[in-house]
Amino acid sequence: PDTITVQELANRMAERAADVIKCLMGLGVMATINQSLDPDTAQLVVEEFGHNMKRVSDADVEEALVVADDTDEQLISRPPVVTVMGHVDHGKTSLLDALRKTDVVSGEAGGITQHIGAYQVTMANSAKITFIDTPGHAAFTEMRSRGAQVTDIVVLVVAADDSVMPQTIEAISHAKAAEVPMIVAINKMDKPGADANRVKTELLQHEVVVEEMGGDVQAVEVSAKAGMGLTDLEEAILLQAEVLDLKANPNRVADGVVVEARMEKGRGPVATVLVQRGTLKTGDIFVTGAEWGRVRALIDDHGTRVQEAIPGMPVEVNGLNGVPSAGDDFVVVESEAKAREVSDFRQRRIREQQAAAMKKSALENMFTSN
Ligand code: GTP
Ligand code: MG
Repeated sequence: PDTITVQELANRMAERAADVIKCLMGLGVMATINQSLDPDTAQLVVEEFGHNMKRVSDADVEEALVVADDTDEQLISRPPVVTVMGHVDHGKTSLLDALRKTDVVSGEAGGITQHIGAYQVTMANSAKITFIDTPGHAAFTEMRSRGAQVTDIVVLVVAADDSVMPQTIEAISHAKAAEVPMIVAINKMDKPGADANRVKTELLQHEVVVEEMGGDVQAVEVSAKAGMGLTDLEEAILLQAEVLDLKANPNRVADGVVVEARMEKGRGPVATVLVQRGTLKTGDIFVTGAEWGRVRALIDDHGTRVQEAIPGMPVEVNGLNGVPSAGDDFVVVESEAKAREVSDFRQRRIREQQAAAMKKSALENMFTSN
């Protein structure tokens, strides 16, 4: 149950704690400043002071973060967000690296890139694709388990000399469960033993029917090592994105998802955020998970300081008060007061959950100790 301390209650009403204690005495309750009050007692006090009390629940706090939906006219096309999955050693990291090198913008800038957990490739025709650079099912499932739907398209990497393996099958089931469309990248086509047909045939057994087999899943033959088929793969991604008709309104306060976060020496907590709606700007106040902050600096995937980030763009954010987790939401709010309120509420909820878990395990230990 939700309790509130005398001090907190006083703060929220902008009254002095001493006056709240006095009021409680009048109600026959002897309380100290750090004492917790149950909601009914708190309500009595609030009414005594002539305020209205709104009991804030989970739903209220989450609802306060929701901004009205965008209308169709406000929506414009945004880049697809792609996650690469596949069996161990089939070339996920190599493929992400190779795709990154196709970026025409970093080519011009001299190729200064840094790892921020996600990056965006701009193609020669100026189309953009965002890749989540934390390959593997763990990142995907972790984010999904936290309710974050980040990925629009899964690229399933299958090595042409090894074909379908256990983690290939696992990746297929993850993509299916998330209802995210798949594109198969048949990798290592430069190898002597490469057999793309075998891959396509074996995928049939897992209900992945590529176009050549009469299905609707695109399959592209690539070699991360030889830099072969990369443009074909990007074109397949853009085609899939077109079918999905991905759109977002850039002209509103931003929200998005944390892709990666860490504590950095000299910089404090740093998070890579994928902006999903709106435009994130320097100076914005935000809540992310149980943390909050004010955007001090935004740094893009080329290590360049930018003033703002639009939908589909991954940026590193400086100015957090703590380290959030991958998959946490990231929502810009109108004031520091609101940010504090939401983050306080979520921190309290985490503490309560931890306390409940500890109590439970203590009880279990008691019963299993002999
Ligand atoms: P994990 O992260 O360990 O699951 O592996 P991964 O899927 O990221 O594979 P990674 O990119 O590390 O590649 C594994 C090995 O395959 C490395 O030795 C790569 O050099 C090699 N490799 C990747 N792509 C290709 C390719 O297209 N052709 C050839 N010949 N080798 C490749
Ligand atoms: Mg890897």
